[in-house]
Amino acid sequence: MKQIVDLTSRRNFKKTTLPLTEIEHVAFCKTEDELPAQPLIDELKVNIKWQEIPVEYLRLTVKELDSRIDRARLSLGDRLMILGHHYQRDEVIKHADVRGDSYLLSKTAANSKADYIVFCGVHFMAETARVLGSENQTIILPNITAGCSMADMAPIDDVLDAWDDLTKILKDQSIIPVTYMNSAAEIKALCGRNGGIVCTSSNAQNVFKWAFTKSKRILFLPDQHLGRNTGLKMGIPEENMVLWNPFKRMGGNSVEEYNKAKVILWRGHCSVHTRFTVGHIEMARHRFPDVKVIVHPECTKEVVAASDINGSTEVIRKKIEQAPSGTSWAIGTEISFVNRLAKENPSKNVFCLDPVVCPCSTMYRIHPAYLAWVLDALIAGVVVNEIKVEPEIAEYSRIALEAMLTV
Ligand code: 13P
Ligand code: SF4
Repeated sequence: MKQIVDLTSRRNFKKTTLPLTEIEHVAFCKTEDELPAQPLIDELKVNIKWQEIPVEYLRLTVKELDSRIDRARLSLGDRLMILGHHYQRDEVIKHADVRGDSYLLSKTAANSKADYIVFCGVHFMAETARVLGSENQTIILPNITAGCSMADMAPIDDVLDAWDDLTKILKDQSIIPVTYMNSAAEIKALCGRNGGIVCTSSNAQNVFKWAFTKSKRILFLPDQHLGRNTGLKMGIPEENMVLWNPFKRMGGNSVEEYNKAKVILWRGHCSVHTRFTVGHIEMARHRFPDVKVIVHPECTKEVVAASDINGSTEVIRKKIEQAPSGTSWAIGTEISFVNRLAKENPSKNVFCLDPVVCPCSTMYRIHPAYLAWVLDALIAGVVVNEIKVEPEIAEYSRIALEAMLTV
């Protein structure tokens, strides 16, 4: 007989909604010649809602912005560190002191002695730098609207409801929360408060191993694909992984299914990586029979299974750099990064799996005008877009992040 658990949370009455950032991704595909940065005023013509910026920055060319940024760097010297995620545009990443994936950048932020860390990436990355950095450091996100649609798919209230429900459903209480770095600080804090941990795409398997030494079941947030791909790599059968749908009563599964599950996956995804299909891989293999296909583990399990290698952006960078000349590489990740890898490795045939050019629309919000603006302000003694995290949230998310750094 099916067991019924009485769940009275308000989640039972919620309507399905899409994060605004997700909707923007869909409408953000471009042509190759639209990728290089234009004066901000021209980019804003396509009716996007980015942070307001003083008018003097709107018409500056990339060259003019470069000289402002260089002047500020000279003036601030070692007091300033600029971090750049691989998905940033060329016109921004060229100013970064360190480039990397989320894991490398969070470690760099934790060890930096600079007074100001300007994080050219997205909000959850800057928040992580805030949590791991020292108190007298100031963390700045050049465009405060640079979020992540996947992180937006796990709002804290929904996650708290789910956590409450799951601890009621699972009578043995054997569940540990694990969150991907791509989540808000409140979610990381929920993990820290409940013996859980954070992971990135470069350490997910080790983090899962760690988590299974503490509990027989994981709640993984917010990316179902990274969670599923990691579970599969560890030999967990799919029937022991269930999807928690925050818009359905009891997440859409029965008590029996939760009891059987080893991994409970939050229903979130990355709109950039779920665009890649097995058809793209077949097309690449047809065009170049010797091609190696490398994809990010935020892609679907079918795409990961059809690829040759999967890994974080840093893994992808290293693989391409170390590959012999004359080899062909089809890459399933964000286009600004793939194009840069192609440019930096001219002796290899490097191209994006998807012929349609769709950058991560939120990473793209860091236009060099925003970088110039926050740096000019710093020289003038004004801090713009400082990232702050409430002390209690910071304390518990630090516990979950530090657990990750020791794994
Ligand atoms: P990495 O940790 O691999 O850099 O990935 C971050 C990200 O946002 C991928 O979409
Ligand atoms: Fe978020 Fe996807 Fe953009 Fe990464 S690529 S920042 S997961 S929306």
